[in-house]
Amino acid sequence: MKQPNIVVIGSLNMDLVVTSDRMPRVGETIEGSDIHYIPGGKGANQAIGCSRLGANVTMIGSVGKDAFGEQIIRQMNNNGIVTDRIAQLNGVPTGTATILHTAEDNCIVIVPGANGRTTAELVAANEEMIRQADVLLLQLEVPLSTVLEALRIARAHGIRTVLNPAPAKPLSDELLGLVDILTPNETEFEALSGQAYSTDEELTAGMKDWEARFRQTLIITRGDKGSSYLNNGELRTIAAPTVRVVDTTGAGDCFNAALCCSLAAGQSMDEAVRFAIHAASLSVTKFGAQDGMPTLAEVNEKLTQY
Ligand code: RIB
Repeated sequence: MKQPNIVVIGSLNMDLVVTSDRMPRVGETIEGSDIHYIPGGKGANQAIGCSRLGANVTMIGSVGKDAFGEQIIRQMNNNGIVTDRIAQLNGVPTGTATILHTAEDNCIVIVPGANGRTTAELVAANEEMIRQADVLLLQLEVPLSTVLEALRIARAHGIRTVLNPAPAKPLSDELLGLVDILTPNETEFEALSGQAYSTDEELTAGMKDWEARFRQTLIITRGDKGSSYLNNGELRTIAAPTVRVVDTTGAGDCFNAALCCSLAAGQSMDEAVRFAIHAASLSVTKFGAQDGMPTLAEVNEKLTQY
């Protein structure tokens, strides 16, 4: 694959990961078995995912001038990411994510902190950097005004954009109309479109309406079922390989990173979705969002097994 040039604009968090046998019920106190403090954040995870897959990656975002911020920047540098566009801000804490992790799944509460100060102005100051990207990758853990500005700049320069609309929030038609590829999971797509889909036929109809309205490609991630997109109007679902799951945190981030790398390298949508699913399936076999991001060699080897 050609070495892609990817710009990621998004969040950098310190993840406080608490492991327990099960999720607590509302109002209940339970005992956990472990706590880990590890760098995360959807933006940073996706940047590291792209870098492990061989891309040149520049990250635009913000951390606080504190110990968590320093640890996060070190981790990004160790993964070969260009970090000089990450603002280190006084007087505001680095973003955190408290993650309840069980064998089956996870629940996350984020406190944005410095991510909330990744402003449209910071993005505008990096217009030239965005102009040089093969793909601009975005999520929703920074202000929507920032995401909108980034999308406007990318559209003005004809740069392909991928928006991972996570965590789910209402989005304006203006913002959605600037996105080239949207990658919600099933729940996020239901929230965005305001409809529930109980069959593949209903999902296909919902996706067709959406793509016609916003003139964009939808790729819906569906957990262990794989991922679906429309191929000449027909629902094409690419199955996920069966793996031993250790930690699902960051699987969506890995999917988005791999999708961008593959598309930026000139692969077809079918190849890109297949590549992304295999990457994401590898990511869940290790603990931690960033430690689980596979290398290009690991994904290619996995692909030869299927
Ligand atoms: O997608 C996983 C990420 O979501 C975690 O790393 C956490 O920081 C939250 O942003």
